[in-house]
Amino acid sequence: MKIRKAVIPVAGWGTRTLPASKAIPKEMFPIVDKPVIQYIVEEAVAAGIEQIIMITSKGKSAIMDHFDFSYELEDVLSKKGKTELLTIVKKVSQLAKMVGIRQGNPLGLGHAVLCGKDAVGDEPFAVLLGDDMVDSEIPCIKQMLKVFEELKAPIVGVCQVPEDKIHLYGVVDVKPIADRVYGIKGLVEKPTKQAAPSNLGIIGRYVLTPSIFEVLEHVPFDKSGEIGLTEGLSGLSHLCPIYAYEIVGKRFDVGDRLGYLKCNLNYAIKDPYLREQLRKAWEELLGNS
Ligand code: G1P
Repeated sequence: MKIRKAVIPVAGWGTRTLPASKAIPKEMFPIVDKPVIQYIVEEAVAAGIEQIIMITSKGKSAIMDHFDFSYELEDVLSKKGKTELLTIVKKVSQLAKMVGIRQGNPLGLGHAVLCGKDAVGDEPFAVLLGDDMVDSEIPCIKQMLKVFEELKAPIVGVCQVPEDKIHLYGVVDVKPIADRVYGIKGLVEKPTKQAAPSNLGIIGRYVLTPSIFEVLEHVPFDKSGEIGLTEGLSGLSHLCPIYAYEIVGKRFDVGDRLGYLKCNLNYAIKDPYLREQLRKAWEELLGNS
């Protein structure tokens, strides 16, 4: 069955990126010349997704505006003869069908996904988180959709995480079943390094079936008053087989300042002009420090 819809939760407070994210959604931070959220939507579209269900909140309207048609801007660019920019701007508003759903009270990732229930309906869907960007030849979520086509069961994207960072992730307990594919025996959200069942951390890419909604509806609030997606997946793993897929690509945690800077550099050096200029700037800056 073709997966047509992707849920993208963007309602969080962005506490890790304060004060930069106080008035601007962190998803709108630029990576070279495009906001993070555009890379995420483009990844979904490149995998054949047609409809984006953005789970948003107060103060995040810039995200939906970014993908909207902007008559005034297009008119100005057209009158000024800036055809190249006009094409770029038009393309953004034509990327996919956008549905915006307000989460209201942001009660965690599981709750955010649950907010998408009616818009998703009775079909499998993808979930992409804006904190994780993956630069890969085959778009990350497309790799996972291929695995879903074969296994027809929920797939969680994972990557190997160093021991000193594992407490920041949902972690899977697995048994390998094929190249990069694992059967999930259990999941634990943000364990201590001693309690982590493996070094495979969940990155923000999931392919889910609608059965997750029923489970999430019954997941109790955790200590911080939130409904976790990992807890939902753990519940789901008792009802049906679910799998982990070790993604291929360079993954950046853009919610972390070092990850964000590395991601910017990664995309900047793809441009030959910026690559050369950055090399000079780097030597200049380090030389003077
Ligand atoms: C969320 C998930 C976590 C996952 C992480 C990936 O955590 O709850 O399981 O490993 O995203 O970025 P957050 O980073 O929102 O705290």
